[in-house]
Amino acid sequence: MVTKAIGEVCGECGGRTYVIERRGDRAHARVCTCSVRCSICDGRGFSYDVREETFSAKVGPKRYEVLVPCVCQHRAKKVAQFNEVGLPGVMSHAGFENYQPAVPAQGLALNVARDFAYRFNKAGVNKGFILGGPVGTGKTHLLVASLKHLVLEVGLEARYVEISLLYATIRRGFQEGKSGGEIIGPLSDVEVLAIDELGKGRGSPFEMETLDELIARRYNAGRTTLFATNYSLEPERKSTRTAAPSGYRATEDAKTAVREMELLRERVGERIYSRLCEMCSFVELPKETPDQRRMRQELDIRPGPAPGGMRGPGR
Ligand SMILES: Nc1ncnc2c1ncn2[C@@H]1O[C@H](COP(=O)(O)OP(=O)(O)OP(=O)(O)O)[C@@H](O)[C@H]1O
Ligand SMILES: [Mg+2]
Ligand SMILES: [Zn+2]
Ligand SMILES: [Zn+2]
Repeated sequence: MVTKAIGEVCGECGGRTYVIERRGDRAHARVCTCSVRCSICDGRGFSYDVREETFSAKVGPKRYEVLVPCVCQHRAKKVAQFNEVGLPGVMSHAGFENYQPAVPAQGLALNVARDFAYRFNKAGVNKGFILGGPVGTGKTHLLVASLKHLVLEVGLEARYVEISLLYATIRRGFQEGKSGGEIIGPLSDVEVLAIDELGKGRGSPFEMETLDELIARRYNAGRTTLFATNYSLEPERKSTRTAAPSGYRATEDAKTAVREMELLRERVGERIYSRLCEMCSFVELPKETPDQRRMRQELDIRPGPAPGGMRGPGR
């Protein structure tokens, strides 16, 4: 932990040595000002490490110094790798420490995501997770918290993609003469990939083939993939008819309720669903899990000291 003075932790980074901020539509990391000038190597970028080895039995073990990259070099590399992940800017704040479960299933989701990230074994096979649930329940938040930890603390390479943006990028690539494989390739090979909004889209043959290829490639290579979706993770529909929400919860909610009833299995097909079962731990947030975006807005529109304190879209 880097401290400004003895016992005093940096107020900007809290001792992490890096800071994450929103830059345009992306989350961006930089080395904290407290750590820009490295006190270990004095800016040279390397330090000495003492090794011991026995070259001849007669002489016995000998100690010698080797030049190794300084911690500041590792830090700079992790920060640069973070800036390749493609995390959304609005999610810059997301971490395990600021995820507050409102229902028990969110507590489970937090534990699954945190255990996954903290116990990640670089040398082994790591099962990912898939979070299913209604809007605004922190699914993307937990994907981002996991990738942040893996990249900045564990030192892995990772990518985040929102599925419909990926389809759009590939389509645009076609127009520029690129093949789908050129875009899918790096996503197939990266150590950890998070696919957000799984099941979204038109379900066109192009989309289904793209998704199938990406997931099959990662599955075959035994690579770790994380997912989030608004569709139900259940293999079968529990009841065929669900009453539409009543009262002030109007058309948007009715649409969401219909979407929640839809099964991911039906959206992505048997081949993908079957692979997900092996690749991931499943965590489903129930439909009564509160939407944090709406809760914030409700706090905002509560009559307060400001006259006519209505903000945001009315309902
Ligand atoms: N349990 C929670 N604790 C703290 N913040 C939360 C929690 N759940 C959601 N949030 C915050 O609420 C906002 C919306 O969360 P997020 O985008 O992760 O939801 P989501 O489940 O991915 O929704 P959608 O299905 O619409 O993509 C974010 O700012 C997120 O940080
Ligand atoms: Mg989301
Ligand atoms: Zn700092
Ligand atoms: Zn250094």
